[in-house]
Amino acid sequence: MATVSQQDTRFRLSEEQALELVEAYGTPLYVVDEVGFRCRIGAYMAAATAAYADSRVTFASKANSSLALLAIAADEGCYIDVASEGELRAALLAGVPASNCILHGNNKQAAELAFAFEAGVGEIVVDNFGEIELISELARTDEPASKIVGEVLGVDVGAPRTKLHCPKLALRLAPGVDPVTHAKISTGQADTKFGFNISDGAAEKAVARCMELGLPLVGIHCHVGSQLLDPQAQRDGAEALAEFAVRMKRELGFTTKVLNAGGGLGVRYTDGDQPTPVEEYCKMIAQSVVSALQGSGLKPTLIQEPGRSLIAESGVTLYTVGVVKTVPTAVGATRTYVCVDGGLSDNPRPALYGSRYTVERVARSADPDGEVVELNGDRTRTVTVSGRHCETDLLFPDIELPADVRAGDLLQVLCTGAYNSTMASNYNRFRRPPCALLRKDGSHCLIQRPETWDEMFEREIIPAGLVRG
Ligand SMILES: Cc1ncc(COP(=O)(O)O)c(C=O)c1O
Repeated sequence: MATVSQQDTRFRLSEEQALELVEAYGTPLYVVDEVGFRCRIGAYMAAATAAYADSRVTFASKANSSLALLAIAADEGCYIDVASEGELRAALLAGVPASNCILHGNNKQAAELAFAFEAGVGEIVVDNFGEIELISELARTDEPASKIVGEVLGVDVGAPRTKLHCPKLALRLAPGVDPVTHAKISTGQADTKFGFNISDGAAEKAVARCMELGLPLVGIHCHVGSQLLDPQAQRDGAEALAEFAVRMKRELGFTTKVLNAGGGLGVRYTDGDQPTPVEEYCKMIAQSVVSALQGSGLKPTLIQEPGRSLIAESGVTLYTVGVVKTVPTAVGATRTYVCVDGGLSDNPRPALYGSRYTVERVARSADPDGEVVELNGDRTRTVTVSGRHCETDLLFPDIELPADVRAGDLLQVLCTGAYNSTMASNYNRFRRPPCALLRKDGSHCLIQRPETWDEMFEREIIPAGLVRG
């Protein structure tokens, strides 16, 4: 059983910093701490390399793909995991060499693959048999990639571009391990849309097919789930991959040069979330791989693909309190709603996964108006911090806040660096918030400006003749 980290490593703004940022950029506001992000990457890399010398850390850009953060990750030596053409374009725009990008996706589009070929991505993680055949077509033809894709699938991918050679390939495997996490972020079990199952022989057939087609298959990959506080599933997944590699060498003569154990290390959203320290986590993954490979002669590069654990704890979201309202509940008690100026559209995770967060008052309103919660001698009280969207979503339920929380107060929600800005939407026609970066020297700047009203409506078309008169 892994030990857990008791240490609270989450970034928090001081009152002074929060007031300065809000004066400059308003709320809601995402804030990312550059030093924290760089340090977490450094710590992960050091832990990975100490546990297994030939290690590589790939930042899963789905966690946060703002260009400045991708540039920082690359600057710190990370490769970048991209799960779509859009994420690949983001990495390229951030200055990441295509050769340091790994393309994922369970239903890659033909045009997306053609784009990846032509960009020269370092590796494609292949998900299914159809994709193997399509890649083979792309790899074999002398035609420009975009032309062959257009012909094979009847897809219009624009003007033919120059043909480039096939990137290295890895196979995404479903190792048949079922992690303890929310069902929507659990991906390693046999019943999954991702990858080739080991248990039903699909993975072995996929290796054989790639070899038969002469494709540049270099390795295997799995990602069993996300926000895993107990790393047993990742350890089992990595072990299953290594055992599979040994079997493929023995049975098919295939040499695994790259073994990618995915991401998934959990973070501290609330004090109850106590993740495994990264040093111990990396040791566990490496040991399970090394012991399964023993005697096989295989010495693959070990890749890890963390997203959340590199960026989540370095981010906070700032909100301003608006309405404070106490209402009767069905059981004869009362509930106090503390409504903030954002919510579902900037952080859908509570609605999607029932995710819990830590919310703190970081600055008190200088000029209170609206309802003031009675103190009753208590210093704190339990409230529901809710958003301002037309949903009965309890954004952050059961939060302890100072009992006199009131309109104009500033709240900071901890640990919002991952899967917040990348999952934000325009629901209720809310503009997505800006993101500020707190620099090493204590200064700050925007890395994503606020969305404008023009941007909100620029895709809209009202066809001629739609409206009478
Ligand atoms: C293939 C793959 N790799 C890496 C990750 C990153 O996971 P996490 O952010 O939990 O580390 C994900 C997340 O969904 C994923 O699907």
